[in-house]
Amino acid sequence: MRKPADCCVVIFGASGNLTQTKLLPALFDLYCQDLLPDHFAVLGVSRTPLTDDEFRERMIEGVRRHAQLRSDDAATLERFARVLFYQPIDTGLAEEYAKVRIRLEELDRAQGMGGNYLYYMATPPVLYETVAEGLAAQGLTCQTEGGPWRRVIVEKPFGYDLASAQALNRKLQEIFAENQIYRIDHYLGKESVQNLLVLRFANGIFEPLWNRNYVHDVQITAAEDAGVNNRGAYYDRVGALRDMFQNHLLQVLAMVAMEPPTRFDATSVRNETVKVFQALRPVKPEEVSDCVVRGQYVEGKVLGGRLAAYREEPGVAPASMTETYVAMRLYLDNWRWGGVPFFVRTGKRLPVRVTEVVVNFRQTPHCLFDRSCREGVRYNQLVLRLQPDEGIILSFGMKVPGAGFEVRDVAMDFHYSDLTDAYLPSAYERLLLDCMLGDATLYARNDAVEACWAFVDPIARAFSEDASIPLYGYPAGSWGPQKADEMLVPYDSRWRYPCKGLSHGSHCEL
Ligand code: BG6
Repeated sequence: MRKPADCCVVIFGASGNLTQTKLLPALFDLYCQDLLPDHFAVLGVSRTPLTDDEFRERMIEGVRRHAQLRSDDAATLERFARVLFYQPIDTGLAEEYAKVRIRLEELDRAQGMGGNYLYYMATPPVLYETVAEGLAAQGLTCQTEGGPWRRVIVEKPFGYDLASAQALNRKLQEIFAENQIYRIDHYLGKESVQNLLVLRFANGIFEPLWNRNYVHDVQITAAEDAGVNNRGAYYDRVGALRDMFQNHLLQVLAMVAMEPPTRFDATSVRNETVKVFQALRPVKPEEVSDCVVRGQYVEGKVLGGRLAAYREEPGVAPASMTETYVAMRLYLDNWRWGGVPFFVRTGKRLPVRVTEVVVNFRQTPHCLFDRSCREGVRYNQLVLRLQPDEGIILSFGMKVPGAGFEVRDVAMDFHYSDLTDAYLPSAYERLLLDCMLGDATLYARNDAVEACWAFVDPIARAFSEDASIPLYGYPAGSWGPQKADEMLVPYDSRWRYPCKGLSHGSHCEL
């Protein structure tokens, strides 16, 4: 693996949770693998008044708890802490950014980072434009041929709807060129999501089957057993559709459904993903009730303990109509996928945390062993488990030994953990490294973000404007509204309930 050129990572919103729990631990893991530049620094910027030492202490605390490598090695932690610095500013005031410029100049003189700066927007989204403008006013955003590079990573949520995403894109593009802007979706940084591409395009056996002629339906599930934790106030404004579906699930869908790119580079891969989003069949407002099921968790019981209802969570309005669950049937109008239903669901307070893609292949055209056919729908099924316990399961029918021809499903089950020497880098580790290397393949392009919003917008609007669309309650700790199961019945399919064989499936007996 290549090491990036010398640089400084400047994190705006550095006193927040993301910096402590994800960004610094990821940078530390890169440091332990010798994948950070020789001359490197992190400059944390936010409102909270902290000294360099106080910032280091907080960050090292986060590293100890969340890094994967050598986080108990005091000497390594101490060496790493020496490249961390902090600059308090009022991030909302343009003139304050002079302090950032002066600090960067000092650091550059001391550390020799060649003027290469990666800005990470980990602030609340309302500040993205202000940060970009503040940096531009200090001459910190220009990038010239052969000169130092300047890049910006923008955290989600990227807009609240199509209009705000377009406005943000326009604003950022007034200041940065598109190739300086890295819109992060941490699902694309997940090893197992990238493996979808390898599985599809490094093997000859799947691709010929990967189309409407052989695939009956595709399911994508992102279930979380957690509730909204301490993010109730944020989540209540957003809901599952915007929080998970618009970004993470549509990105996974693109990996499953895209055409093979001609080359593995940012332009070719992203050209193909955007085509998937453009092929999404728009959902008309009057169709929302038919192809979307929304739900909200109510009080539930798990292993004898009570789980609070969503409306009881701190920060959530007592009569909130925000969905914590969404299941959708959608179609891609193109030659490969014409007529194949995609079923996509996500929810909080489901029985387990699991993300997986299920490809159900069509049944045989003729039923030779008819008892098994009569016993119900049976498909060859390929399950791509993205988390946890990353792996792949292929199931098919086999003869039960003995007289007659009884057919039974068996599964070939591969777990990444079987590769005992495999280190699975965290999503942020991979994405930060890619950005430092200038590789945007796993980042979302402006047209893709806008195409996703264009699909989601009418549904989100219908949710908020059309009171006749039901919001189903489901007990916390259950698999969501019954209605979502019913959605698949006319399609001769059913959701895969992914508990069996999952080490984290302790609540499955519910
Ligand atoms: C975030 C959402 O983007 O992704 C959270 O805001 C969600 O609500 C999280 O819990 C899920 O990410 P992961 O990596 O745990 O699947």
